[in-house]
Amino acid sequence: MKSSSTVRLRPDVAAMQGYVPGQQPSESGWTKLNTNESPAVAPGVLKAVREAVSSELRLYPDPTSRALRERLADRHKVVPESVIVTNGSDDALNILVRAVCSPGDRVVAPKPSYSLYPVLAGIQGAEMVSCSLGDRFELPIRQLASARGAVTFVSSPNNPAGTHYAADDLRWLAEQTNLLVIDEAYVEYASDDRVALVRELPNVCITRSFSKAFGLAGVRLGYALGHPELIDALHRVKDSYNVGRLAQVAGLAALDEIAWAEKHWEDIRARRNKFAKELCGNLGLHVYPSEANFVFVECGDRDASDVQEKLAGRRILVRRFAEDPLFSNALRISIGSEEEMARLLEALTYILRMEN
Ligand SMILES: Cc1ncc(COP(=O)(O)O)c(C=O)c1O
Repeated sequence: MKSSSTVRLRPDVAAMQGYVPGQQPSESGWTKLNTNESPAVAPGVLKAVREAVSSELRLYPDPTSRALRERLADRHKVVPESVIVTNGSDDALNILVRAVCSPGDRVVAPKPSYSLYPVLAGIQGAEMVSCSLGDRFELPIRQLASARGAVTFVSSPNNPAGTHYAADDLRWLAEQTNLLVIDEAYVEYASDDRVALVRELPNVCITRSFSKAFGLAGVRLGYALGHPELIDALHRVKDSYNVGRLAQVAGLAALDEIAWAEKHWEDIRARRNKFAKELCGNLGLHVYPSEANFVFVECGDRDASDVQEKLAGRRILVRRFAEDPLFSNALRISIGSEEEMARLLEALTYILRMEN
């Protein structure tokens, strides 16, 4: 038998790095504030999923998640033909690039932003054009427009700083580009969303996630909203059964408990604002304004990688973005439960004050 190292790969795939996910420890006991998961799941969701564990699991799921698609259409006041349900929002981002970008086309996005976009461009043989954000994370709309992408991604609120971008800027950008994808993975924690742009313009697509706002990162569930013609193309490109039975049940149950979720989003926003104040006031750190369930913290004269390491020594995980020289001394910290934030604050205070 041939050893696998002798398989001839596509040269670009052989050379590519692949997406590097945040650390996911296999043992319990960690305070995980590194990948923006939610600290809670609505109780009714767990009950519904438990009840759905039956011999029905031998059957394939509904290929287009019809019931969930209709509920989401209702929620966002669009027709069901404007919705595709996906295996996490990553799946939506992936099939968008597959459906729209030919090899050699451009994928355009601001930088720093979600590091999956360049990976998707690479897999498709597209050219990635990254346009640097301003030093206060302002969106470089003119550069983004003039890069002439087949697909232009803007995450809003953006990862890693939580900056939310104005509807007028996004509308202007959409008017200049082939397809504007607004990645709203964190938008439930923001003051408003940009769904109205989907109703207004045929070349705006919004992607959403059940991972961050509904506490279902482990289920893998997301969706996209867009013009029916685009959504129809995405259905032709997706895996035949891209969303499992249990994920569909979890999504429907999460929407049944929307009042619980809305209260949870409000709590996280309040906790985020209080935590940011504490970091600025008591610890003298610089925190960028965030509309997401995380904050981006400049470590000033302290070395961010040292702080990250010391936190990890206390089994607290936060994320650092070393690749971007402008923001390499910052940490991104997810907003967890009240207890988790108290634990983090105590550890940070000790590290910054006592170990200096
Ligand atoms: C901006 C952004 N979009 C999308 C995702 C992926 O979300 P999902 O879990 O729905 O695939 C993430 C995850 O970190 C993200 O930061």
